[in-house]
Amino acid sequence: MKDTFYITTPIYYPSRKFTLGNCYTTVICDAVARFNKMEGRDVFFLTGTDEHGQKISASAKAVGKTEMEYLNEMIDDAKKLWAMLGIEYDKFIRTTDDYHEKAVQKIFKELYEKGYIYKGAYKGLYCIPCESFWTESQLVDGKCPDCGREVIAQEEEAYFFKLSAFTDKLLKLYKENPEFLEPQTRVNEMVNNFLKPGLSDVCVSRTSVKWGVKVDFDPTHTIYVWIDALFNYMTALGFKSDDDSLYKKFWPADVHIIGKEIVRFHAIIWPALLMALDLPLPKRIFGHGWMLFGGDKLSKSKQTGLKECIDPRILVPRYSADAVRYILLREIPFGSDGNYTTEIFLSRFNSDLVNNYGNLVSRTLSMLKKYNSSIIPARFEEEEADKNLIFTIDKEIENVKKHMKNFDVSKSLASIFNIFSSANKYIEATEPFRLAKDEGKKERLQTVLRNLLESIKVGSLLLYPFLPDCASKVLEAFNINPRKEGFKSLNTNDLPVGNTMGEVSMLFPRLDIEKELKELSELT
Ligand code: MSP
Repeated sequence: MKDTFYITTPIYYPSRKFTLGNCYTTVICDAVARFNKMEGRDVFFLTGTDEHGQKISASAKAVGKTEMEYLNEMIDDAKKLWAMLGIEYDKFIRTTDDYHEKAVQKIFKELYEKGYIYKGAYKGLYCIPCESFWTESQLVDGKCPDCGREVIAQEEEAYFFKLSAFTDKLLKLYKENPEFLEPQTRVNEMVNNFLKPGLSDVCVSRTSVKWGVKVDFDPTHTIYVWIDALFNYMTALGFKSDDDSLYKKFWPADVHIIGKEIVRFHAIIWPALLMALDLPLPKRIFGHGWMLFGGDKLSKSKQTGLKECIDPRILVPRYSADAVRYILLREIPFGSDGNYTTEIFLSRFNSDLVNNYGNLVSRTLSMLKKYNSSIIPARFEEEEADKNLIFTIDKEIENVKKHMKNFDVSKSLASIFNIFSSANKYIEATEPFRLAKDEGKKERLQTVLRNLLESIKVGSLLLYPFLPDCASKVLEAFNINPRKEGFKSLNTNDLPVGNTMGEVSMLFPRLDIEKELKELSELT
């Protein structure tokens, strides 16, 4: 039986204003999911939307819609965006899905019956018109951050989760499982900021929030959105439903990939809830850094002028899904923050996609056509340059596999592009155009062309999970279907001699950077 691999994105707050930053987690997960499929695993990739809470109600009301009308439009929009970016999830969960709400109610009740949830009183600063509680630090000039009106100190009956009982258990978990939370800096943050000072119990229900999952045994309460949201990772697999076969097959998750600002919920509250229920914990949690725009996270773009330049709905049709995926996956050192500018995007487009990959493919295929009628040649006697190239390719195959075990998409892409640049250098060193002029060098020319084809094949197979459209186009010319064959041909010696290579149309057009910058700025 195949190994299974279960990977999740966080469920997104529905919004129309997704920027490149919002796409980051999902694009990484898609690349990791595809890579694992290529390695032959039985993969389940989950994404979805987080649809409860006061804010949703307020946003729906503001545009004169019911919550569901408002949400349905947002979700359609999010799904279109994911399709546009080539995201191939196996399931899209909405926390308003009936099966999810029912399962969350059962889970809440079980936690209550086990004594981990108890009734108490929630004290906070309340804005009456907005029906929202705020903490001191959330206020703006001492007033409600949403409407700017006065807030009053108020108390309401609420349920609490005994998070305080889990401080030592979580410390032990981190110590015994260094892979549970990565990178290590996130562990340090959790330990120093939350675990060492000791955890407090958390409020897990509200009577003032109406748009949420009701506590079934006390229906004036709705369940805290984060409890509702976190369990999506299990309910999506049918946990607590009539058919939990997917749950049995895929849980525990192999990895939750999330942004660093939500690590506390995933690495403290989530495992504590699971421990309280005696359920297996996810194997790994990876807290990635942010894509910054002029030093700002800007997730739901506030800055004017920059907005269109980081709107995937503008960038994808203009530059292709692959180009946008490339910049997201390549530019941010994994685990850290990375700065995005339009200049970086455009210059990487030209240097990496056009000059390095695109050029290698077009040069090689046109030489093959001209000198060998597009027929895949055999390899004859090997020279030093050939051995070096093959050595680099074999080494980079191993490097990419190793980096992908750590979800390091950026280093993986660096390794893949090193294959292409090594092959380009190999062309300069072996000069096939000169060999072609010399009748006595026929076998040498064939060997060089073959090595170039093997480099392109291996590089494109490795690239497929990251940039599926252009890699598929190239692999098609080799008659390779990556979806069916996975990494079967990930070696430097299996191209069938005598087969004819197909053609590849231009992968990426060279950009006039000045012109692009001007046109993009005119859009704003
Ligand atoms: N709804 C919660 C998650 C609940 S999971 C049980 C949430 N949603 S979100 O829409 O605000 O964020 C979704 C993902 O987008 C997060 O992983 C977040 O880190 C990521 N990003 C949003 N802006 C980002 C950048 N500028 N850079 C990188 N990722 C960022 O949080």
